[in-house]
Amino acid sequence: MNKYELRTILLSASVMGVFLFALLYNVYARKIDVPACIPYNASFENPGFRQVDDLHYEVYMVAKMWAFDPGEIIVPPGSTIDFYLTSADVVHGFHIERKAVNIMAVPGSVNKVTVTFPDYGTYKIVCHEYCGVGHHNMLGKIIVTNLVN
Ligand code: CUA
Repeated sequence: MNKYELRTILLSASVMGVFLFALLYNVYARKIDVPACIPYNASFENPGFRQVDDLHYEVYMVAKMWAFDPGEIIVPPGSTIDFYLTSADVVHGFHIERKAVNIMAVPGSVNKVTVTFPDYGTYKIVCHEYCGVGHHNMLGKIIVTNLVN
């Protein structure tokens, strides 16, 4: 074996070792969660909004060219919403204004994020990943009000 090949192999193995150590250190010592992989399931054939408990909701949301389904969610202040997000066609973005939410809607897989809405107001959901000619109109909204129907 050429000495440069051996050095390259050793260097590559060292870099992989450092990455593996960094991953395990963050997961076990610093307790930083690696995002869960949630299998695609039948709940997405009927996208929508369900109340789980008092002030706790679940949204099975499907992003598709060029809308979010459901497009409008109305909850009372103090609500916590678990968003389960997927896409029916291409990769879309999912950003909720004034919230630290920035995830992707990926066909065939599910991303989950939990958000609490303590304050009244209307929060736009914006697709922030270019997804075609209608991308700029791909919006949804969350309305936080006591006038929940
Ligand atoms: Cu969907 Cu941009």
